[in-house]
Amino acid sequence: MASTTISICVAILLLISAPSYSSCSNSTMSSGDTLFTSESLGLRYCGFTMQSDCNLVLYVYGRSVWDTNSYGRGERCQLELTRNGQLVISNDGVSVWKSSFQGEDDNYVLKLQEDGNVVIFNSNENGVWFTNTSVSCS
Ligand SMILES: *[C@@H]1O[C@H](CO)[C@@H](O)[C@H](O)[C@H]1NC(C)=O
Ligand SMILES: *[C@@H]1O[C@H](CO)[C@@H](O)[C@H](O)[C@H]1NC(C)=O
Repeated sequence: MASTTISICVAILLLISAPSYSSCSNSTMSSGDTLFTSESLGLRYCGFTMQSDCNLVLYVYGRSVWDTNSYGRGERCQLELTRNGQLVISNDGVSVWKSSFQGEDDNYVLKLQEDGNVVIFNSNENGVWFTNTSVSCS
């Protein structure tokens, strides 16, 4: 289900010049979810993309505003939100980047927010990790 939606988003991005992610319904991922190579979360003009060059990039109006600086670390990189709230980029099972927060096992949710901040929340809805980006996605 999620993969289908994400693939449609990628296809639409290739067809239009001004990158809008408005057709993408999905701007969240939960513990256990994976963004595979070339997949994105999207919200209006913001996109959070696991690129084929292994860099995870937050784009606003096609401009990069945040990234993991992990380009060139693999060709099949994927992003997982783990049970302990950590974002992990791995290539063929080898981790190449991890976010700083690691907590107890819980159902964490990562949200690409309207205000351009990407936030991981725990089940009490407390933010535990942030990209600290502040841009309007609309
Ligand atoms: C969004 O995608 C995640 C997996 O990436 C999935 O768990 C969730 O159910 C999806 N939400 C919707 C509304 O499709
Ligand atoms: C966001 O800001 C907080 C507080 O300054 C900091 O601890 C955290 O490392 C920052 N997040 C990133 C991804 O740099």
